[in-house]
Amino acid sequence: MEAIGAQARRGIAIFGAHGQLGRVLTRVLAPLGPVHALGRADCDVGDEKAVRATVRRLMPGVIVNASAYTAVDKAESERDVAHRINAEAPGFLADAAAATDAWLVHYSTDYVFDGRKGGPYEERDPTAPLNVYGDTKRLGEEAVLARPIVAFVLRTSWLYDREGRNFFSTVKRLAAAGPLRIVADQYGTPTSAAALAEATGAILRHPEAARKGGLYHAACAGETSWYGFAHAIVGALGLPVEVAPITTAEYPTPARRPAYSVLDGGLLKERLGIALPSWERALADVLRGEA
Ligand SMILES: NC(=O)c1ccc[n+]([C@@H]2O[C@H](COP(=O)([O-])OP(=O)(O)OC[C@H]3O[C@@H](n4cnc5c(N)ncnc54)[C@H](OP(=O)(O)O)[C@@H]3O)[C@@H](O)[C@H]2O)c1
Repeated sequence: MEAIGAQARRGIAIFGAHGQLGRVLTRVLAPLGPVHALGRADCDVGDEKAVRATVRRLMPGVIVNASAYTAVDKAESERDVAHRINAEAPGFLADAAAATDAWLVHYSTDYVFDGRKGGPYEERDPTAPLNVYGDTKRLGEEAVLARPIVAFVLRTSWLYDREGRNFFSTVKRLAAAGPLRIVADQYGTPTSAAALAEATGAILRHPEAARKGGLYHAACAGETSWYGFAHAIVGALGLPVEVAPITTAEYPTPARRPAYSVLDGGLLKERLGIALPSWERALADVLRGEA
């Protein structure tokens, strides 16, 4: 058996390192081994040759794919580029991992589900994405899981951080301009980039990680609506702004979204003993500046 953490000590190559999750991973994974933080300028993940050459040059023990095409609405009209980055690039990274005996950590989304289950989704539940983004992410999962490598595909939901383009920073910005009208009939779980990065680190440090690869749900615990999340943000920040609930029908978007996409984190807890905090606790940590 390999020494605990030996794989990460060979080096951790983070692709998409300048995105909201990539930035936090770069900080949180640093104690595990030398981190190579790669932005789009260092390696375009849609370029198979560049991916292969970058991995061969760095020879990391772990490849972390934090890159993605995440513009959910724009993807409806940019299927080709979304497909390249979300469906094909994960396969390029997985091939590079196979060629160099590296592990791969890849992230996916709650939007692989259609939201009709009526309860938290488990890994074995059938996928049925409602939009192009979710469909391309589903194909990316399959591409990684089909390769004979140690891979962790972590589905997460409603990701945010203090900075970057996300719901948290949008609410903060718009709250300064006047009352907010927020969709109250879509339910899911806000997940801080810090909570997900910490869980990623815990996976890589797990003594039996080499035998525990696979597909896992890795989102914060609990559930709320976008309205509930907005309410919690302005309340915690003490912003004197009114938040009014609206329906999805009142806020039409190019991409359809699931009405309920809570992810059940039971498998990650059962197989690896890892549980993310409640979304309220993770939000409090972000607001206190601890995450
Ligand atoms: N955001 C969410 O609510 C959410 C929810 C569920 C799951 N996820 C998943 O979580 C993961 C991290 O998402 P995130 O929110 O951190 O995304 P993000 O902030 O949009 O970051 C994605 C990063 O990927 C980079 N990228 C895009 N195309 C690239 C290319 N061809 N080559 C190299 N880099 C490229 C982007 O660079 P540029 O800035 O230069 O484009 C950006 O830095 C993704 O797998 C996403 O699907 C996100």
